[in-house]
Amino acid sequence: MDKLKQKISGKTANIGIIGLGYVGLPLAVEFAKVGFTVTGFDTDNKKVSEINKGFSYILDVPTADVKQLVSAKKLSATLDSKLLNKMDVIIICVPTPLRKTKEPDISFILAATEDIAANLRKGQLIILESTTYPGTTEEVILTKLGADSLKVGEDFWLAFSPERVDPGNPKYKTKDIPKVVGGVGEKCTEMARLFYSQIIKEVIPVSSTRSAEMVKLLENTFRAVNIGLINELALLCNKMNLDIWEIIEAAKTKPFGFMPFYPGPGLGGHCLPCDPIYLSWKARTHGFEARLIELAAEINSYMPHYVVDRVMEGLNNKRKALKGSKILVVGITYKKDINDLRESPSLTIIHSLIEKEAKVNYHDPLIKSFDADGLNMKSSDLTKEIISSSDCVVIVTDHSSVDYKLIVDHADLVLDTRNVLKKFKGAKNIITL
Ligand SMILES: NC(=O)c1ccc[n+]([C@@H]2O[C@H](COP(=O)([O-])OP(=O)(O)OC[C@H]3O[C@@H](n4cnc5c(N)ncnc54)[C@H](O)[C@@H]3O)[C@@H](O)[C@H]2O)c1
Repeated sequence: MDKLKQKISGKTANIGIIGLGYVGLPLAVEFAKVGFTVTGFDTDNKKVSEINKGFSYILDVPTADVKQLVSAKKLSATLDSKLLNKMDVIIICVPTPLRKTKEPDISFILAATEDIAANLRKGQLIILESTTYPGTTEEVILTKLGADSLKVGEDFWLAFSPERVDPGNPKYKTKDIPKVVGGVGEKCTEMARLFYSQIIKEVIPVSSTRSAEMVKLLENTFRAVNIGLINELALLCNKMNLDIWEIIEAAKTKPFGFMPFYPGPGLGGHCLPCDPIYLSWKARTHGFEARLIELAAEINSYMPHYVVDRVMEGLNNKRKALKGSKILVVGITYKKDINDLRESPSLTIIHSLIEKEAKVNYHDPLIKSFDADGLNMKSSDLTKEIISSSDCVVIVTDHSSVDYKLIVDHADLVLDTRNVLKKFKGAKNIITL
């Protein structure tokens, strides 16, 4: 135990990060920046070779940082899981999506665990960062790793630490966000605490891996449920001819007991649409129906369809049918200023518009083309011509670099799902949610 503690404190511990995505790459860069030698393990050949060439494919991580760390031999990437045996600390940052049946898909965690198990040796600290249901670290990982002669808490250490990174957020980066850790017993918690305190100012230990797993699900379920509530109020305000955005602005002047959430075209990304479902699934295995969580998910997943209904209403008021109309979708990523399309509501919106025989184009400064969810499309330039020739422009994602004045000046009809056109309030061609 003391040997690993010394290696961690002296920053001579070799760190292995499994999964070099939105979570794993920023983490790898932070540890490498303070002097650790970090090896990233990924099954995606393209990512591995881009890192080794000194290139970053994540917008929040500057290529200059990756280049400098790779040439200083502080950061490298590999496809070879056998090298896990050389690592002193291993962090798992693989995806935890949903199956088509809306059940947790922990197959990536299982695959990473098998790689670790095949290369486990005395003196290693293993940490799971992927978001998952309470119980995964011990029921799944410990069961596989602890089956051999090595004893957890003595020969190796195991902990869960939720990842809280917020892609696209310029204010809070990995190192600025307090980190929660929960180990399999006190010794594991202490080892994980010491490890993260090398890069993070505030590390918060909790009593168990299950508590740490639940902390993350509480945080994201809290967001998803509150977004569900505000989406429901947006639907109601539309019926009552009230402006939800004005109401939120006024309500948030209350200095206590209120936190603003905003309506939108639906949840997206790898976290909010998935994480609450991990929790409600686990709840069911305890014979408990998490009704509020399920209801919020239902409301949130209705929002993309509501967007299409609003487009139809807007066109109807202009004596036009959606069938045959030209629709320009502006912004297709799941949130502003990031290039992530996973679970984006824009995909459901585009599918539904195409199903109803609209002619759909899109513009997104961060996605030049995509092939996802059965759609294969190229971004159109945002020109006066394409705007004025569209029957409706639908703003799904409010990227900062879009010329919104050009849209307002030339569109016949704009549906603004994000209130990004608030400064043009009163313009007759704008409708909102
Ligand atoms: N994206 C976020 O904002 C965010 C925030 C907090 C937590 N999380 C959680 O972190 C986890 C990772 O999310 P992400 O957004 O970084 O995912 P991602 O898809 O961006 O990255 C995951 C990486 O893991 C790799 N991978 C998959 N299986 C592997 C294996 N067996 N061995 C090695 N590499 C493997 C993939 O190729 C990919 O590069 C998820 O559980 C997610 O819920 C994500």
